[in-house]
Amino acid sequence: MGNCMARLKLVAALSAAVCALGVSYAQGGTVWDGVYSSEQAERGEAVYKGACIACHGQDLGGNSNSPGLVGMGFMFLWEGRTLGAFFEKIREEMPTDRPGQLPAQDYVDVVAYIMQANSFPVGDNELPYDAEILDGIAIAPKS
Ligand code: HEC
Repeated sequence: MGNCMARLKLVAALSAAVCALGVSYAQGGTVWDGVYSSEQAERGEAVYKGACIACHGQDLGGNSNSPGLVGMGFMFLWEGRTLGAFFEKIREEMPTDRPGQLPAQDYVDVVAYIMQANSFPVGDNELPYDAEILDGIAIAPKS
């Protein structure tokens, strides 16, 4: 019984923490705030065509071995996480045949291209190569 109460308290504490996170997301911005520029997405498209298209496909829909990077599949995996986490995944593990081997700028540019392919709005500023800023941008459903 005591054990059970302790667990309930833990659950309550966790929910409070999750709510607090939700608040900081709202303040820090989301992918709907125009976080990349169209020139950056254009550069990212070139990166994508050079280094990603063979596996993730021309329409970013993936193939039988590689996951799609757009639409519901993308949101299913990434909603509630940050652009920082998405960026890290790509920078550390992609392309799978030579992970981490692209120039640093190419990694943020390709993220911009994937944002555009997911119909998130363009803005005036580029996505920076800065983990702290990327961590402050939530991948959220349209509000
Ligand atoms: C040689 C094939 C290959 C290449 C090239 C490749 N990928 Fe992948 N990618 C995969 C496979 C297989 C997975 C699934 C396994 C995993 O998540 O590590 C994956 C997973 C991913 C994921 C996570 C999927 C998700 O939504 O959770 C992202 C994002 C991604 N790739 C982006 C890229 C980008 C951007 C490039 C180009 C810079 C790239 N990949 C190049 C094969 C590839």
